Amino acid sequence: MEDFTRLIFTTSHDPNGEQISLAKELAHKYNGEFIERKNLKDVLKEDEIYFVVNKNLTIDCKWKDGRLFFHPSVSKIRLNNYLKNGKDYLIESIKPEENDVILDLTFGLGSDALLLGYFCKEVIGIEASFPIYVVVKESLKRYQFKELWLKESSEKIKIYHENYKDFIKRQVDNSYDSVYCDPMFENPQFKSSSMNPLRKFASYDRIDKVDLENMIRISRKRVVVKARVNDSIWNEFKFNYNVGSKKSGVVFGVIEKK
Ligand SMILES: C[S@@+](CC[C@H](N)C(=O)[O-])C[C@H]1O[C@@H](n2cnc3c(N)ncnc32)[C@H](O)[C@@H]1O
Repeated sequence: MEDFTRLIFTTSHDPNGEQISLAKELAHKYNGEFIERKNLKDVLKEDEIYFVVNKNLTIDCKWKDGRLFFHPSVSKIRLNNYLKNGKDYLIESIKPEENDVILDLTFGLGSDALLLGYFCKEVIGIEASFPIYVVVKESLKRYQFKELWLKESSEKIKIYHENYKDFIKRQVDNSYDSVYCDPMFENPQFKSSSMNPLRKFASYDRIDKVDLENMIRISRKRVVVKARVNDSIWNEFKFNYNVGSKKSGVVFGVIEKK
C-alpha cells in the first residue's frame, strides 16, 4: 500500500491563494507533485490517490470512491462522557498524569491521542501509513478547533512516520511514562465507522514478542495494548490485568512496571 508511484497534491475546487501555496509547499516537503485542481482529471489515473488542501487548510486524501480526513469529534464525545461519568477504558488503563509523556505507537486518526493530551504533558505518535500520517499531521496543526482543550491537546502531540517496530528498538530504557499500542484488530468490527476510512491504508502489523519486550523496556510506568476480546494476543502474552467490557468486545491489556 505504501508503494506510491507519485504523490499528487492539489486543492479543492476554486481555491484561494493560501490553499495553492500550501499545496505547493506540501508537494515540495513530501517530494510530490503539485497539480492545479482544474487539470487533475486529465492527469489522474483510475486507481491513484491524491491529497487535497481544503478551504480551511486541512488535508484530505482522496481516491476514486473514498476519502480519508481528520475530524476530532470522537475525542470530543469521549472527553465529555468521561467528565460526566468518569468512565473511559483508555484513560482507566493508561492513567495519564499531568507530567506524563505518552508514546502512542499506532496513531491512526489520533482520537486516542487527543483525549490523552487533555490529561498529560506530551504525546509522541508513530504512524506507519504515509497517507494517514500526512492527513493527520498536516490537518492537526491547522484544524480550527472550537474547544480550547482540543486545541491545547493538539499542540502537545508530535507525530512521526515510521514503523513502530523499528522506532521502539532505538529508544533508550524508561524513556516514556506509558506506551500505548492499538493495532488494527485481527477480527475487525466492520460496524466501527470511525475505523472504516483507515482500512484502505492502515498497516496490519501484529505485535510480536520482541515488540512487547521493547515496549516494556522503554516505558517507566506501564504498557497498554488494545485488542478485541477474541484476538490471539490474549493467549500469546501475559498482562497484569484487563480493562474493558465484554459487551463492547474490546479489551485494554495492562502491564505495570512498578
Ligand atoms: C486501530 S488504528 C489506531 C487508532 C487510533 N488509536 C485512534 O485513536 O485513532 C491502528 C493504526 O496503527 C497503524 N499501525 C499499525 N501497525 C503499525 C506499525 N507497525 N507502526 C506504526 N503504525 C502502525 C495503522 O496504520 C493504523 O493507522
